[in-house]
Amino acid sequence: MDIYPLIMSQGELINHKSLHFPIEERGLQFGDGVYEVIRLYNGSFYLLKDHIDRLFRSLEAIKLTIAFSGDELASILKSLVKENKVAKDSIIYLQVTRGSAPRTHFFPEDVEPNMYAYVKPVPRPIDKIKTGVSTITHIDERWKNCHIKSLNLLPNILAKQVAVERGCFEALLYGEEDKLITEGSSSNIYLVKNKTIHTHPESNAILTGCVRNAVKRLAENLNIPFVERAFTTKDLVSADELFLTSSISEVMPIVKVNGIQINDGKRGAISKRLQEAYEEDALITSLKKQ
Ligand code: PDD
Repeated sequence: MDIYPLIMSQGELINHKSLHFPIEERGLQFGDGVYEVIRLYNGSFYLLKDHIDRLFRSLEAIKLTIAFSGDELASILKSLVKENKVAKDSIIYLQVTRGSAPRTHFFPEDVEPNMYAYVKPVPRPIDKIKTGVSTITHIDERWKNCHIKSLNLLPNILAKQVAVERGCFEALLYGEEDKLITEGSSSNIYLVKNKTIHTHPESNAILTGCVRNAVKRLAENLNIPFVERAFTTKDLVSADELFLTSSISEVMPIVKVNGIQINDGKRGAISKRLQEAYEEDALITSLKKQ
């Protein structure tokens, strides 16, 4: 479905048709910027503060300053949702680049960053959450700053495309030498063994997902051990369960890796329990707090 007509540009709400960038725009030419994808359920934000905090961490990491505080940005995004009368399950795509300037590899001086956001209806993947998805493993070819939610997604896109061409939903990325699973091309990855959840620790090798943080909190509430230790490609096939998380995929069971079934090709009990806790948190608890 199409995006909602009003978008945010430089903090103002405008019709999306009036957004124009000069050809020398650093996001377009260099991928010189960062972004966020924020979930809305029935038009209400989920984990908004976590996303804004991460955006500011990404901005700081690429030495980019914007003229808005986190609170100001949150209220701009809230008015974007309100003015568009968003009532559906949707996402906000928010992007900040170093701005428009004659093309130079070094930072241009006195240039205002370009910041825009739009809202788009994105249904929940309810069926896939029940059946689970198939995946492949793929070498992690990315750079050494994956904790930054950078616009430079070429290695992620190439890995995802290989997965899609093999009829799969996601590529599980692994280090070429150590064979450790870092994350998915657009998700975080978890392995369950002996009723304990394992996932890659926070580091510059992964993006710390906002849903990853929520799942950690939910697992702790449910007394399910959550161990932040990486596992290898070999560990995948002997896992009791595998799942992935993201703002779009929620807690998505992985039932196949490279054609090999996990948990007899069915969603596991812990993946199911966490998804139920996620739904409670996203659709009930966080709504009450708003
Ligand atoms: N991506 N790791 C990577 C590389 C990601 O791109 C994402 C999300 C995640 C999960 O982050 P979160 O839980 O905050 O959604 C992990 C978004 C959905 C995207 O690029 O579309």
